[in-house]
Amino acid sequence: MEASPQHLSVTTDDGVATFSPHELRAMRDEFQRFLLGYQFGLREVETKIGILRDEFLLTHEYNPIEHVSSRVKSADSLIDKVVRKGVEPTFDAIRDHITDIAGVRVTTSFAKDAYRLFDLLTAQDDITLREVKDYIARPKENGYQSLHAIVEVPVFLSSGRIDAVVEVQFRTIAMDFWASLEHKIYYKYDGAVPDGLLAELRDAALTAAELDARMERLHGELHGPHPGRFVAA
Ligand code: GTP
Ligand code: MG
Repeated sequence: MEASPQHLSVTTDDGVATFSPHELRAMRDEFQRFLLGYQFGLREVETKIGILRDEFLLTHEYNPIEHVSSRVKSADSLIDKVVRKGVEPTFDAIRDHITDIAGVRVTTSFAKDAYRLFDLLTAQDDITLREVKDYIARPKENGYQSLHAIVEVPVFLSSGRIDAVVEVQFRTIAMDFWASLEHKIYYKYDGAVPDGLLAELRDAALTAAELDARMERLHGELHGPHPGRFVAA
């Protein structure tokens, strides 16, 4: 049967699917609503991080955060990942299996600040910690360092509460510098980075870690061993 002119036909793996304008709008709305939950989750986590930073500065005259950035995965890269990981294409399955739709990156001055912020965020009553990957204590084979937390944060909508999953990456400036360069190299070579370059990257990661340790030690010499500690003096 021919689709009526107002209907849109899409070629799929199983043949041709036909959608009415009403169906298309409903699909678009559902997808937008799905992504909006993550956008709100990001805002909750950003607010929490911002409050910690401001309060830290006021109470301890020390700012452990250099930079905070966040993003919701684009529809394109989400779809790519769903296909790559073989996730069933339903919102429930995607919610369960893709945990980096919302991502916040917290760049800290020192590695100990990354741990401290992780502890302060994940200790909060309304935050549920789903997973931790400590690539600072155990760097990845390629040298990558960062502390990753997958958390759930409640978001209150007119229709009730949802729990948004947010990936939070804590890393120092040096770790961030390394990761952004490695990311560019990885993409330039489409994943097949030559061995010599891989070895150089691993070595550069060690240099970054040494710089972190050295700066942290210098900072300690300037300010004493516990700058910005939480216990009352
Ligand atoms: P995906 O890689 O996102 O499928 O998740 P995963 O289960 O492997 O989680 P992992 O915690 O290893 O990585 C999550 C995110 O951390 C990635 O999306 C990147 O942003 C970052 N990341 C992990 N490994 C590397 C790396 O080797 N280099 C760089 N530049 N970033 C990395
Ligand atoms: Mg990965």
